[in-house]
Amino acid sequence: MRAYLEWPAEHNPMRAATVAVVEALAGAAVELAQTIAAGSIAGIGGESGGVNPDGDRQRTIDIVADRLMREALRTAPVAAVLSEEAELPETLDVDAPLCVAIDPLDGSANLENNISIGTIFSIRPKAYDALSTFFEPGTAQCAAGCFIYGPQTVLVLALDQCVDCFTLDPRRGEFVLTGRDLQVPPDTPEFAINASNRRHWSSAVRSYVDQCIAGANGERGEDFNMRWIGSLVAEAYRILLRGGVFLYPADARQGYREGRLRLLYEAHPIALIMEWAGGAASNGRSRILELSARTLHQRVPLIMGSTRAVRDVDAHHLTVEPLFESSDAPLFARRGLFR
Ligand code: F6P
Ligand code: MN
Repeated sequence: MRAYLEWPAEHNPMRAATVAVVEALAGAAVELAQTIAAGSIAGIGGESGGVNPDGDRQRTIDIVADRLMREALRTAPVAAVLSEEAELPETLDVDAPLCVAIDPLDGSANLENNISIGTIFSIRPKAYDALSTFFEPGTAQCAAGCFIYGPQTVLVLALDQCVDCFTLDPRRGEFVLTGRDLQVPPDTPEFAINASNRRHWSSAVRSYVDQCIAGANGERGEDFNMRWIGSLVAEAYRILLRGGVFLYPADARQGYREGRLRLLYEAHPIALIMEWAGGAASNGRSRILELSARTLHQRVPLIMGSTRAVRDVDAHHLTVEPLFESSDAPLFARRGLFR
């Protein structure tokens, strides 16, 4: 991986710094992958007793992952790191050129079921100061990626406007380039959503999913397949390889009025991966990459995947009123639309 990433870096210090951050994170991911693979033997399955800033119960492995990633970032040119596991960004080297937002271990609740989980990261050039960097839109990212700890440990990396894939060779402890310039298939009839929430969805989401389920007999005129892993990195990886669409929409449940996923370290980086691989990501009305955070741990509805499907879901949102009344979240209005 090192040779592949470093060769064009000579004349571009910002790119060289970005590569240094990716390499530092990759080093931590090798260690984390080993710990995860050891499962119960490593004694990291249980709950830590803590909660993260968003109220999620922290597991021991969340704390371990957060520590490993932070330690790695301290060795890289990073001014500040915002982690899902802490309320505020941590200042590292104030003079460094980059800032990182990270979800150290997304989907960690899946660990006990031996389902793929991952680390998601977003890298941005430092803006006016470290804190203001996190309030820039997602288009400010210079790179993003995710490590997927599954049957194989894989790094999906969006850099230089394209998306490559590296697989960990566990014998050598190194990531090896295994997929170059991945392209999301533009038109795959496969959708992923937690359908148990159907009664809470907006009519826009419901009408799109109902059309998928109607299959060849319905308006879409073709049969759809459905998947739901409950692990964002695994869904994103599947979509990168074979297309389809993933939705975690806003819904009427308390606490889900802006969806579930966090903008800065989940939606922004996944959206960069999707777009640079020729796919799309939206909140139903706007490109995810054009959104700026209002708060550090802000949630956002996420629809991502094959371009045509994301456009179709957006089109369903155009035909209905926004979901909820909220002065600072104009996307969402009027609960009356829920049946
Ligand atoms: O952010 C945590 C996460 O586990 C994602 O990886 C996944 O997409 C989502 O939550 C699953 O949510 P739910 O349990 O509501 O289906
Ligand atoms: Mn997460």
